[in-house]
Amino acid sequence: MTDTPTPARLRVVLLFGGRSSEHSISCATAGGVLAALDRTKYDVVPVGITADGAFTLQPDDAAHFALDATRLPVVDDNGTRVRWPESAATREMMVVSASGEVSSLGEIDVVFPILHGPYGEDGSVQGLLELVGLPYVGAGILGSAVGMDKHFSKTVLQQAGIDVAPWITVRAHEWASRRAVIEEHVEELGWPVFVKPARAGSSVGVSKASSLADLAKAMEKALAEDNKVLVEAAVVGRELEVAVLGGRDGGAPRVSVAGEIVLSGGGFYDFESKYLGAPGADLECPASLTDAELAEFQGLAARAFEAIGGAGLARVDVFLTDDGFVVNELNTMPGFTPISMFPACWLASGLSYPALLDELIALGVAEQR
Ligand SMILES: Nc1ncnc2c1ncn2[C@@H]1O[C@H](COP(=O)(O)OP(=O)(O)O)[C@@H](O)[C@H]1O
Ligand SMILES: [Mg+2]
Repeated sequence: MTDTPTPARLRVVLLFGGRSSEHSISCATAGGVLAALDRTKYDVVPVGITADGAFTLQPDDAAHFALDATRLPVVDDNGTRVRWPESAATREMMVVSASGEVSSLGEIDVVFPILHGPYGEDGSVQGLLELVGLPYVGAGILGSAVGMDKHFSKTVLQQAGIDVAPWITVRAHEWASRRAVIEEHVEELGWPVFVKPARAGSSVGVSKASSLADLAKAMEKALAEDNKVLVEAAVVGRELEVAVLGGRDGGAPRVSVAGEIVLSGGGFYDFESKYLGAPGADLECPASLTDAELAEFQGLAARAFEAIGGAGLARVDVFLTDDGFVVNELNTMPGFTPISMFPACWLASGLSYPALLDELIALGVAEQR
């Protein structure tokens, strides 16, 4: 780690784990990225954030962070502490070992934050990196914050003329004090509804409710994740996603072919089917769409990406209904696990996983947002 870097190689901090409920997903993504980064091009500094928020130096070992149904990977607190640059005038990072010795991690070229959810995908880490003056991959503070918050992203998309599912936003205090009024509004949306925390992800805290009794349970579950909850009309349609990469040199965003989540058994795309290979959801890429449908979807995705202030990358998730596309959400730091849609969409578009990482890092180094 403290070897003199070969000048041609970029020194990349891979930042993963974190304080959100998606800690393990981020670790699994880190495993995938560690395995694929080309070491002739990059010196990799794996920085794991523990669930408590400690920045630790982790082993450069992809297998350590593999995800399977029996074990969710985590960042263990090994006692090391990573220190960010002392000022924006230097890019040198340091590490304090468990026994207190301080050593250099070298001059950092770019940080690749593969963090999902709060304290990672929401602008907070982006703010930290702006403060210390390190270039980083992905959306900036505002784009990350808007993308993270379903209430604000839907508001911004709607304002940009993009269709989203009708919804109401409910704060914890409103649910506590004005429940009957909220129930009336929900009845107006029509059953079933989807209830989701405004700022979570990976389907954590998301449930489908078909009655007032279901709604009460669903609200409890969602409010456990966030004090702001969306209740949304259920959309009937195919669930499709595209992957977006920011434009090079000021150019337009680039959009992949579409992937489809094919649900069976009446369920939705929940945590188990997303990451643990539970039956009920299959990813199909490329999705079967006409050329005109794909072109419309790609144009819509680019507009949505720009509307929320996206940069670097995002996955745009939609429903294709009888009346056209309805945007469900954007993820400014989508999963890269071995069964994730984002890399699969790019692979189907002719960009391999390592080439995709090269592209993301190049965009981060160029700091165009
Ligand atoms: N309005 C809706 N209509 C139909 N299905 C929905 C709706 N909202 C969410 N879902 C289902 O729930 C899943 C998770 O919801 P989503 O809003 O994408 O939350 P997350 O940010 O956790 O991924 C979606 O992938 C979809 O299968
Ligand atoms: Mg989703």
